[in-house]
Amino acid sequence: MNYQWYPGHMTKAKRMMQENIKLIDLIIEVTDARIPLSSRNPDIDELGKNKARLILLNKADLADDHKTEQWMEYFREKGYYAVKINAKNGTGIKSILPVIMESCKEKIERDRRRGILNRPVRAMVVGIPNVGKSTFINAFAGKACTKTGNKPGVTKGKQWIRINKNVELLDTPGILWPKFEDQEVGAKLAMVGSIKDEILNLEELSLELLAYLHREYEGILQERYQITESEDKLNMLEQIAENRKCIQKGMELDYVKAANILLEEFRNGKIGRITLETVK
Ligand code: G4P
Repeated sequence: MNYQWYPGHMTKAKRMMQENIKLIDLIIEVTDARIPLSSRNPDIDELGKNKARLILLNKADLADDHKTEQWMEYFREKGYYAVKINAKNGTGIKSILPVIMESCKEKIERDRRRGILNRPVRAMVVGIPNVGKSTFINAFAGKACTKTGNKPGVTKGKQWIRINKNVELLDTPGILWPKFEDQEVGAKLAMVGSIKDEILNLEELSLELLAYLHREYEGILQERYQITESEDKLNMLEQIAENRKCIQKGMELDYVKAANILLEEFRNGKIGRITLETVK
């Protein structure tokens, strides 16, 4: 499953992260609400200990809202602040600033006691590839942002985006590496489209997705594809191929085409709002 991360890449990303984390008060970790665990790398917990932590469940428009609520509760119980957002259309973005202030209240109070007033909270966005870090930074910073440039005591070259008088954001996100060694994580990342398709067995992936949808969202496949759902996932793919006229030369059914349709429609939310992981 390893498509772009190799040890060299990972070491470099980790080093940059360690350097940048020294400069900030708060880590804003972007995750994909459809796979809140598989789209994280828990190494960030070690790297970011002693920092305030905010987890954004992004792409909430594509996820099952009931499960998203459960995941927010799950993260809050573990001591993170958590907010669900749709970075693409801006839903939920407004609620973030007050949460940031709340998450950093100890630092603000500490500053106040030392006589330091109005020192902005500094934050950095992190996450694995494709979770929506850049989309979020654009939505959050908006047009009103001004880049503050280099400041004394800040590593040269770092750019800070001033969100308002209280909050500054590092303009480049920290990239975390996915947990490729876990096969199931790899499969889920592939299902949501975060791993390039060329290196995957699409048919196998679509069969796994069919089994999951039948089990967790019974009836959803029948509604979308007019098929009879059953435990027999190959039969479900076959019916999709028939109903969507996926035919190859020689009048044989084209399973790869059917798999592509299923995955594509899942990824852009046409099958419904679906989450692939459940709080245990
Ligand atoms: P990254 O920096 O973490 O790598 O992610 P990036 O912002 O590039 O976003 C990855 C993809 O996810 C983009 O789609 C982006 O539009 C989409 N995206 C980000 N946030 C949301 C969200 O809340 N909801 C939905 N539905 N999609 C979101 P893309 O296919 O690469 O580009 P495009 O479709 O926008 O052209």
